[in-house]
Amino acid sequence: MYENPRLILDSSNPPEADSVVWRSPSNLAIIKYWGKHGLQLPRNPSLSLTLAASCTDTSIEYEFKEAVQGSAVDLDFFFHEEENEAFKAKIQDFLNSLLPVFPFLAQLHLTVRTGNSFPHSAGIASSASGMSALALGLCSLEDRLFGTLQDPGDFDRKASYVARLGSGSACRSIFSHAAVWGETPLVPGSSDAFAVPVGERIHDLFKSMHDDILIVSTGEKSVSSRAGHALMDGNPYAEPRYAQARQRLGVLLGALETGDLETFGKIAEDEALTLHALMMCSNPSYMLMHPNSLAIIERVRAWRAETKHPVYFSLDAGPNIHLLYPEDIVTDVRKFIEDDLAEFCENGFVLNDWVGEGPEEM
Ligand code: PMV
Repeated sequence: MYENPRLILDSSNPPEADSVVWRSPSNLAIIKYWGKHGLQLPRNPSLSLTLAASCTDTSIEYEFKEAVQGSAVDLDFFFHEEENEAFKAKIQDFLNSLLPVFPFLAQLHLTVRTGNSFPHSAGIASSASGMSALALGLCSLEDRLFGTLQDPGDFDRKASYVARLGSGSACRSIFSHAAVWGETPLVPGSSDAFAVPVGERIHDLFKSMHDDILIVSTGEKSVSSRAGHALMDGNPYAEPRYAQARQRLGVLLGALETGDLETFGKIAEDEALTLHALMMCSNPSYMLMHPNSLAIIERVRAWRAETKHPVYFSLDAGPNIHLLYPEDIVTDVRKFIEDDLAEFCENGFVLNDWVGEGPEEM
């Protein structure tokens, strides 16, 4: 949908060498995307909160090349200032696949430098922040060279589309506070091809929500997200699950609009457990939660019942627990984490994050 053979540089008037730099955050899905088809198209709409502290900085330095050599992108790549062949190969393949969208990439020598705000060893997936930062950089590059993405809505949609091709969930990181990805009658303009912002529809309570990430394990996952999505194809619960996600999205949007924390929290927890239940009843079955993930979940539920504080858990496709709660109970929750939960984290490691304003050009 974004293929554009006209985006070719005029070699008689080449651009000066320069660079673009973006910082882009991770996001936490409340309605989960799990199951896909075609080229990273979702089986159900998902909704996420955009985070702030877990982010990736990516700079793209570009220099015009006299002649186009072949059709591959000419790339130097550095992760945290060091060459990294595995990451480079992944980015190189991704950029090559984008040549129909950004044909001018074959006319440039690119140096991509990227790094995360969180330790690489934290066991936190960086694909959402990493792919969104790269996609934003590529759109900035297009606009810098051709002036074709002047409208902020057009810019964001294309960046979200490109991020999606890199990693599905990354398409939601483009927007402040909250985003919906996947076509649904509940959100005008929504699409399977890119995410759309819904931050304006959510109550202020959720715009200052905390998400403390309890790092239960930094180990490599036994089953990748890619393989997990694929296993949904043979999962006997797949169809009812997709219908459930659609139904829950409607309830969640209502709760986000009215500031109904309890309904929000119930859906966040049900979705996290549904995601992991789907893994457990895949064929072959697998588990990404650890005993300590369950220990934390039990303590969170008990503490909530005891204190009546609105603190809720979520999980991504891994063992780490996200604790979601409003700003006014931050002191109590942090003390609870320190006293009762940190012992279940690897080296007591907790990453404090919160809902944020979305990416920024630096
Ligand atoms: O973006 P992917 O393909 O890595 O899938 C991520 C899926 C979940 O994080 C588990 C859920 C979601 O919607 O982000």
